[in-house]
Amino acid sequence: MRHASPLSTLLTALAGLYAAENRAGGDQAGRALLQAAARTKGLQKAQPGPLDAQLHALLENDPHPLSSLIRAAAPWLVWQFSDLGGRIRDSIASGMMQTELVGPDGLIFDPALRVGLWVQAPQLDYPTRVHAAEETFVILSGSAFWRAADGPETERNVGEMIHHPSMTSHSDRTSENALLAAWRWSGDIAIEQYTLKG
Ligand SMILES: [Fe+2]
Repeated sequence: MRHASPLSTLLTALAGLYAAENRAGGDQAGRALLQAAARTKGLQKAQPGPLDAQLHALLENDPHPLSSLIRAAAPWLVWQFSDLGGRIRDSIASGMMQTELVGPDGLIFDPALRVGLWVQAPQLDYPTRVHAAEETFVILSGSAFWRAADGPETERNVGEMIHHPSMTSHSDRTSENALLAAWRWSGDIAIEQYTLKG
C-alpha cells in the first residue's frame, strides 16, 4: 500500500498557513493538521472531483506556493459538490466542490474542527448564509467579491484571509475568475447549524 506522503506535505503546509492566522481557531487548525499529517499512511487514491478540470486550471493559472502541493496530493483528495447535506440548492451547489481534509467527515477524522479546500466556478453568486462555526478562508487561486454582515462588497485575491465570526452573515460571488480557497470551521461545526438565507 502506497504511503500518501504528498498529502502529508500538503497538510503540513496548511498547518503553517493557519498557524499564521493569529487566532485561537487558526492555532487549533494548525495543531490538528500537523497531527493529521502523521496519519495519512494507507489512504487510498480517489476519483477526480466533479469540477476537476476547473481545479487544475486554477492550479495552473494563478500559482500560490501551495498550488504545487495540491497538485501532488490531488490523487488522494475526495471531492464532492458543496451542498452541505442538501442545505445548498442544486443551482448553486453544482458550481462548487469541496474536500474535507480533516474533520468529522474528513479524509482524516477529527471530531473537533473541519479543514478543507473549496472550488467555486466563475460567474457564480453564492448568496448570504449564516452558520455557528467560526470560519477562515485563505484564497489560493482566483478571486471573488465578498461581503460580511452590512459591510461593503470587497474583491479578495490570492493570499488573503477572510474571517467570519460565528453567526456572521456572509456572501461571495465570482466574476470571470473561478476561486480556490482553503477553509476551516471551528467551534460549533455541525452542518445543522448552517442556513442559506439568500
Ligand atoms: Fe461560511
